[in-house]
Amino acid sequence: MSRSLVDHALSRYRLAGASLIADRDPFFLPVDGFRQSRAQDGQEVVSFAHYDYLSLSTHPDVVMNAHRMLDSLGPSVSASRMVGGERMLHGELEEELAAFIGSEAALTLVSGYLTNVTLLGHLMSSSDLILYDELCHNSIVVGTRAARCDSRSFAHNDLSDLRQKLAAMRGRYKRCLIVVEGLYSMDGDVADLPELVKIRNEYGCWLMVDEAHSIGTLGRSGRGLCEYFEVDVADVDLIVGTLSKAFVSSGGFIAGHGAVIRWLRYTLPGFVFSVGLAPSVAASALSALRVLKREPALTDALRKKSRHFMREAESFGLDTGSAIGVGVVPLLMKSEQQVLEASELLKQAGFYVPPIVRIGVPKEMPRLRFFISASHEDRDISRALGILSNNAMVGYDATARSESV
Ligand SMILES: Cc1ncc(COP(=O)(O)O)c(C=O)c1O
Repeated sequence: MSRSLVDHALSRYRLAGASLIADRDPFFLPVDGFRQSRAQDGQEVVSFAHYDYLSLSTHPDVVMNAHRMLDSLGPSVSASRMVGGERMLHGELEEELAAFIGSEAALTLVSGYLTNVTLLGHLMSSSDLILYDELCHNSIVVGTRAARCDSRSFAHNDLSDLRQKLAAMRGRYKRCLIVVEGLYSMDGDVADLPELVKIRNEYGCWLMVDEAHSIGTLGRSGRGLCEYFEVDVADVDLIVGTLSKAFVSSGGFIAGHGAVIRWLRYTLPGFVFSVGLAPSVAASALSALRVLKREPALTDALRKKSRHFMREAESFGLDTGSAIGVGVVPLLMKSEQQVLEASELLKQAGFYVPPIVRIGVPKEMPRLRFFISASHEDRDISRALGILSNNAMVGYDATARSESV
């Protein structure tokens, strides 16, 4: 007889690393604000855990428009958009988003994660192949499994590995989709888009770029990886992304050729069979987008803060791996224990930087991951990094752990 579900769960949880957090769980800490006072001692705590890159989540326009839409249209659209859930606001958001990216059209869905899963599952069939960067987000990996076609990963940002795989395999498949990210969320590095476009053209592939972390952060005005590399947006078949990061809302989007988006609008299961974006959610994303269009200098502020972070990390001898130094930067460490202790040390000093161990990164590459935002102060950055360097984990008092953020 098979084991009960409870026994199964207990053993799987152990295998997933339960012992690492048995002493004290560093995850799921309630964090109500980017800067907040700690309940037990009133100390200010600054978060480096939020991907609110441009600090728009408290922008008055964003908050006010979300309120307005909640007041006028209610908390939900209560239907799939195809059959009753469509609101004027959805079309406005998609039109403005497409224009911002430089694509012909765009479609929004209720989750960034769902967007990748449903899109990859829908796009390809049994005679096709997906080749994706090995460090692509879990939603892409799960999407490739949902796709019921062959798929292989290629070594991270290693386009000669991609070329080798294409040379060996491309001829056996009808269609081939290459999937990469704009700005990798655990490493802060970027895909070489100009070279990828060449490969796409040479091998007759489709190219999809997930701009979850690069929209609003990369490029002079935050338009993402194409702007960063000055590549024509039309050379990328599908640009996907999320509204939950620079656009401080939630939901995902797909941008591309008008004919492609029209086909998806009528057939994509995760869109057709799911509710439309809630009015306040669509309104906050649209307002954030409008603020960014009006104030492109916001991206300069993010770049300045990020540069300061990289300079300080280098001067303190901290390892930022392959990060280019915009928005998301990891500090690579030797062991999971060291990461857990560094995170706790920072917490005691008033900085929230959750440990990244196992989840989303290889077991042997644990790290602290910093999300840098336009409103971090240089002194926050210097002090947090200085703590890691000066203490070098010596003198860390494991018994004096703080209770909460
Ligand atoms: C590259 C990438 N794609 C998709 C997602 C999913 O987006 P969301 O959290 O908005 O569902 C994430 C989330 O972090 C991501 O990093």
